[in-house]
Amino acid sequence: MRAIFAVTAGLALAGVLSTASAQERKSIFADPQNLQVLPADISTAELSQTMRGVALGLGVRCQYCHVGEAGQSLREFDFAADVKETKAIARQMFQMVADINARTSAIASQMERPATEVRCVTCHRGQARPQLIEDVLNQTLESGDGAAAVEKYKALREEFYGSHTFDFSELTLTMFTSGLQRGSNIEAGIALQELNREYHPEVWRVHISLAEGYETVGDPEKALESYRKTLELRPGFAHVEGKIKAIEEQMKAEEPESKPE
Ligand code: HEC
Ligand code: HEC
Repeated sequence: MRAIFAVTAGLALAGVLSTASAQERKSIFADPQNLQVLPADISTAELSQTMRGVALGLGVRCQYCHVGEAGQSLREFDFAADVKETKAIARQMFQMVADINARTSAIASQMERPATEVRCVTCHRGQARPQLIEDVLNQTLESGDGAAAVEKYKALREEFYGSHTFDFSELTLTMFTSGLQRGSNIEAGIALQELNREYHPEVWRVHISLAEGYETVGDPEKALESYRKTLELRPGFAHVEGKIKAIEEQMKAEEPESKPE
């Protein structure tokens, strides 16, 4: 059980947040009545740090799991009550994290080094339901088209850029769109990769990926343009030189020599 409340180890900030009003009055974390998975002898400071770490890790407020309202004083909350399903799930998560830490510390000790502590934030990164950006985009594409996925990506980037919640790197989006382009959703792959190009016009990989997409859907002009841009950013790339030559020849061959007689 020791590892259970180590979920927030190192979160010095939580301690700072909790000390403010705790001095004079009895802390809301003193004397817990209904601990089923956390150690019964957990100190007030450790419980406070654990709960604040949980809330921060999931990007939620206390009332996500506890009975109370926004704007209400925490003193009026009923923290002991078991009403919300999220609290029950959190209990299972506490146990899961303890299991994981028992395993990883055994592995770390084989390698004779201190274990990296797994905490809520290790997976959750500020989300109640931990998802990668790829998961969110796939969900959007289940019911929407490429344009919907582009809007979703932009909105998430607007909200979360600079946080640990989602990875907005060029390569992650390139990998995702390449998968779409190879699969059955080429249109969405191209739309998202065009967005990637807006954010990362300096990366040759973005342009070659687009060139391949345009080739697949039969748009030689745009493919040529993107291959040329690739070559500009990565001079001497023989594969791309070959592609450019082939498309140019093909376009020449298809030029309307077929004048009506
Ligand atoms: C993701 C869910 C979740 C969030 C968010 C959360 N808690 Fe908890 N909290 C729990 C769970 C689960 C327990 C019970 C642990 C156990 O059974 O050992 C608990 C127990 C407590 C207790 C002890 C209650 C008792 O009498 O047994 C207090 C006090 C508490 N939380 C305060 C807070 C505060 C303050 C916040 C906001 C900063 C917060 N919690 C955020 C899940 C959460
Ligand atoms: C190993 C990764 C991992 C860790 C660590 C982890 N979780 Fe989770 N958690 C998940 C996943 C994955 C889901 C979503 C399951 C699903 O898709 O329904 C989830 C879902 C939840 C949910 C339900 C959210 C919702 O609204 O659907 C709660 C509450 C939760 N976790 C609390 C916690 C707490 C508290 C901790 C730390 C004690 C924690 N989790 C640590 C992976 C993790």
